[in-house]
Amino acid sequence: MDLKHQVLKILEENRGCYINGARLADELYVTRSAVWKAIKALQKDNYRIEAIPNRGYRLLPDNDIVSAESISPYLKPSATHYQLEVRHSVGSTNTIAKEMAAKGAREGTVIIALEQTHGRGRMGRSFYSPKGSGIYLSVILRPKLSIEDSLLITTCAAVAVARAIETVAAVEAQIKWVNDIYLAGKKVCGILTEASLDFESGGLEYAVVGIGINIAAAGFPDEIKDIAGSIFSEKPKDKPVSSMLVAEILNNISEMASAITDKKYLDEYRKRSFLIGKDIYVIRGSQIIKARAVDIDDQARLVVEYEDHTKEALNSGEVSVRPQANV
Ligand code: BTN
Repeated sequence: MDLKHQVLKILEENRGCYINGARLADELYVTRSAVWKAIKALQKDNYRIEAIPNRGYRLLPDNDIVSAESISPYLKPSATHYQLEVRHSVGSTNTIAKEMAAKGAREGTVIIALEQTHGRGRMGRSFYSPKGSGIYLSVILRPKLSIEDSLLITTCAAVAVARAIETVAAVEAQIKWVNDIYLAGKKVCGILTEASLDFESGGLEYAVVGIGINIAAAGFPDEIKDIAGSIFSEKPKDKPVSSMLVAEILNNISEMASAITDKKYLDEYRKRSFLIGKDIYVIRGSQIIKARAVDIDDQARLVVEYEDHTKEALNSGEVSVRPQANV
């Protein structure tokens, strides 16, 4: 790690508090002038660092730049194995993570972007991923699961994200099957899980869990403005909420990963369901069929009851609370 990032790491670990230049120099085995140069370089990169003679340097609490260094202080000891890579702007973090996974990147590699120019959603849709109001990440997992269990990864990730949003923002988060997170009736997060099969073992070679979160209110485009929402109406200035959210999601994923197959998390998934008990529409190609969502079964499938009282467990596909897709 270069000196600039070493200085940043210490400032992030002590966010809001002054650190004496001499202490920084001692800790990093460099001169005070080298520390000063690193601070100047960080300020040039827009880091809000205050320098006060005789007190030292401090990263201001409202500094909102997401970096591996800003996320790490919020990771629990059980989640320090993650390898974080933060990029300003990418096409799609899932596309990058899939390419890296195919080349052998290890479990726990995380690509985080502040903007996506070609964010991808389920069903071949695009995912609106502007700079400044959201955070977009993809986590590479190598779970020992069969392809039939891949729905469990997605639903487990949805619970991990819902819990993280509640911890950081103190608001109740619901899950719309399969993996959209809703706050007060609006979608604030979408999850796209993409997996590759290992043909020899018949199990998964890797899974990439892509998570896109609307953190602060954005001017949403017309096609999603009625359904999309954000976690905060205005981003809080006293804490680095984007970094805290990413860390909390990763904490939850690492805690829950070993419990995917015991399926205990499914009770929480059911409790958080936005659909159970609601009249919905099952969308199958050009067909739109009225039904009622009655349960989530042990394979995380949505159990629906049609008007003729027949039941079906849906594995994938699209359901909507309104008679059109994506709502
Ligand atoms: C959906 O709502 O249909 C799923 C959206 C998933 C979006 C995330 S953002 C990070 C990752 N990269 C992508 O291109 N997509 C996922």
